[in-house]
Amino acid sequence: MYNARILGAGSYLPEKIVTNADLEELMDTSDEWIRQRTGIHERRFVEPGVGPTDLGLQAARRALQSAGLAPEQIDFIIFATLSPEYGFPGCGCLLQEKLGLDTVGALDVRNQCTGFVYSLAIADQFIRTGTYGHILVVGAEVHSTGLEMNTRGRDVAVIFGDGAGAVVVGRSENGDRRILSSHLHAQGKYARKLYLEAPSSLHYPRMTEKMLREGRYYPYMDGRYVFKHAVDRMQNSVREALAENHLEIEDVGLLILHQANLRISEAVVRSLKIPPERVFSNIQRYGNTTAASIPIALDEAVREGRVQPGDVVVLAAFGSGFTWGASMLRW
Ligand code: COA
Repeated sequence: MYNARILGAGSYLPEKIVTNADLEELMDTSDEWIRQRTGIHERRFVEPGVGPTDLGLQAARRALQSAGLAPEQIDFIIFATLSPEYGFPGCGCLLQEKLGLDTVGALDVRNQCTGFVYSLAIADQFIRTGTYGHILVVGAEVHSTGLEMNTRGRDVAVIFGDGAGAVVVGRSENGDRRILSSHLHAQGKYARKLYLEAPSSLHYPRMTEKMLREGRYYPYMDGRYVFKHAVDRMQNSVREALAENHLEIEDVGLLILHQANLRISEAVVRSLKIPPERVFSNIQRYGNTTAASIPIALDEAVREGRVQPGDVVVLAAFGSGFTWGASMLRW
């Protein structure tokens, strides 16, 4: 058995900035409402025709560069997204082609906002057993083409943004610097509290005229319900990781929560009693980028010097499914 660690991280955000004032033009909302309820000031949207694998490719190149590796040194790809370019095949295959990797295996993970935490756990297992030497883990989303940009869709539309983050996971030569543990959970009884119904294999055709009229190809979210569960589940998964590793909150060098809503993060931070300076947030600039939010934040935190070798880093997420979980690493 080997130990696995993150060898390098990278991220990529589309250039187009969409401010809350821009959204005021499209729906009955206000900059004040959005900032107060979510903490978001602006988000990034892609130009037409740009997909999650285009964003993922740029993030992957940066992660490879930071790990000092060439694409040919990647043995396996894990791609987390809820906004795939096609119904099938998955984005992992498309990225594999864009990276010029001939027959390397590629897996898509459909675990929404918890997708990166699940993907990292899978990568950890493959590295620890010696199956693969270097795994590229990507979280990438294009939400902007799937949001209802009017007053009916405003509760969801103001929250999400596009972006990608990536890491390369490989063997740790120094046993102390490693992924310490992963904690993965799901509770399908809440599936329809936050979901995208159509197109659906329950219908023929999978998208009917009626579904189009009713806007059932836009995400549905019971915001208050999701809020409450996100706070409870993320703090519980951090506590679970601490207990498993016999650590206290004081031992955590940096906590990166899935960037769902600044108020959710603040509630988790208050409850865990971790000093805010040991928590990284960038939702103000990017909104909620789902599977991309943690790797983008991790990359920025590393580049800002917020994480030093030997630090304990906790990543925690919650999202549709419901799914939630945490990864604890010694950086
Ligand atoms: N602009 C202005 N008003 C809005 C609005 C918007 N974008 N969206 C909703 N409103 C209105 C509602 O219609 C409601 O009006 P009413 O009182 O006249 O009925 C009012 O604001 C309050 O709505 P409510 O849903 O109770 O607000 P909230 O404080 O719960 O905030 C969310 C809404 C969506 C920001 C909040 O519930 C949330 O962040 N939930 C979690 C979302 C999340 O993290 N999702 C991803 C999970 S991974």
